[in-house]
Amino acid sequence: MFDAENRETLLDVNNIEVIYNHVILVLKGVSLTVPKGGITALLGGNGAGKTTTLKAISNLLASERGEVTKGSITYQGQNITAQDPASLVRRGVIQVMEGRHCFEHLTVEENLLTGAYTRRDGSAAIKRDLEMVYDYFPRLRERRKSQAGYTSGGEQQMTAMGRALMSRPQMILLDEPSMGLAPQLVEQIFQIVKAVNEGEGVTFLLAEQNTNVALRYAHQGYILENGRVVMEGPAAQLRENPDVKEFYLGMSDEGRKSFREVRSYRRRKRWLA
Ligand SMILES: Nc1ncnc2c1ncn2[C@@H]1O[C@H](COP(=O)(O)OP(=O)(O)OP(=O)(O)O)[C@@H](O)[C@H]1O
Ligand SMILES: [Mg+2]
Repeated sequence: MFDAENRETLLDVNNIEVIYNHVILVLKGVSLTVPKGGITALLGGNGAGKTTTLKAISNLLASERGEVTKGSITYQGQNITAQDPASLVRRGVIQVMEGRHCFEHLTVEENLLTGAYTRRDGSAAIKRDLEMVYDYFPRLRERRKSQAGYTSGGEQQMTAMGRALMSRPQMILLDEPSMGLAPQLVEQIFQIVKAVNEGEGVTFLLAEQNTNVALRYAHQGYILENGRVVMEGPAAQLRENPDVKEFYLGMSDEGRKSFREVRSYRRRKRWLA
């Protein structure tokens, strides 16, 4: 059983604020800790700030005219708030972006190999890891010679994840892996996340709108609303929380709520935040 309390903290996000275009305040003091070797889910609806949080960690905000204006981010005890993405990859932190982003004109295998570009440990080791990726994603082995642009959404998601694995990461920031995929495929993707987590010891911080599936595979979760963490805890506890059940899992003891009741929840949730 994974016990977050007794794990070393790998990543510590401390009270960060993010502003886009100098004026749009999007994250309003977000704090979270990611224990080493665990799967942490970052949950919340459209525009809650999940992607912004991941990009703040991997330092990808500059290209979006975004900036961390307050707070700090430490990785293995060292401040990484201003570290560029390439050196973060060398330190073992890699992001898989929302919407996959494969190189469409390259084959699946060529895509995977681009993930190894920062490595200096030779082609034999890289070849071994390619086999490791194919063992986790048998579908990619079958499709390795196909041009990535012609593979399915699920295969592209797998290619993007496999490419991240080729950098031999310690931690993967995974943005919305379920997006646009059929339920069965979503399940398959999360099973692979779990297998990689257990088999390779890779730590995951994953952003998901799909609360249901994420809380079944994660060890702990944070729920973001409007740029703030409104709830956090072990995944099993969040799954049983009545507010989470009602507003994120779409079920409640009294059945579905009417829209007016949802509105009164919106008033109520202000003090939750
Ligand atoms: N480059 C940008 N410039 C200005 N505002 C932005 C930019 N990117 C995101 N935002 C705003 O920041 C807020 C948070 O967006 P973010 O993409 O982090 O949310 P999210 O939780 O990932 O949502 P989704 O589940 O839809 O991916 C939104 O209100 C969004 O409109
Ligand atoms: Mg997002």
